[in-house]
Amino acid sequence: MVERIYLTGFMTSGKSTIGPILANVLGWNFYDLDKVIEGKHEKSVVEIFEEFGEEYFRNYETETLEKLSTEKDTIISLGGGTLTSERNLAILKQTGKIVYLRITAETIYHRLKHKIDRPLIRDLVLNERPREEFIERINKILDERKYYYEKADIILDTDNNKIGITVDQLASEMRKLLHAHNQG
Ligand code: S3P
Repeated sequence: MVERIYLTGFMTSGKSTIGPILANVLGWNFYDLDKVIEGKHEKSVVEIFEEFGEEYFRNYETETLEKLSTEKDTIISLGGGTLTSERNLAILKQTGKIVYLRITAETIYHRLKHKIDRPLIRDLVLNERPREEFIERINKILDERKYYYEKADIILDTDNNKIGITVDQLASEMRKLLHAHNQG
């Protein structure tokens, strides 16, 4: 039985936007991992990184993931880096199906270039660095993460897709998966 679907992908790939819509379409519950972490701390991800450091955030992320991975009929939007450790990957693989929303570095750049709420890119925005530096940073992180992202059960290229199309595609893929499992 598929009881959980995890949405992964780089920052701004649409995980947090698509997650609740897909959950609504399937009649499932929805959690946004970053929002759960922010709620517990009553602080933003940027504040948590600044006050406690990235390692603390990553450990808390794993703990929160462990808890959420027991919820049934649930869509969970992960953070862009959640999938990228062997431990987290094992939790995700054992407890659900992973969907990777893939977008190009160029699209990521356009979506991120004015955003100051992402600790891994924020310095470039605040210092008004040129496009080349954004692309370089984005490609470096993408290269490091490619191995993990490509472990997903479903990969959807969502660059030019409208949200409605992506949700339709995903809902139909999910029904196939749920159907196959119910029959098996
Ligand atoms: C991160 C992505 C962010 C957030 C944190 C770290 C990453 O989530 O978890 O800033 O490592 O890619 P989004 O992918 O929702 O922006």
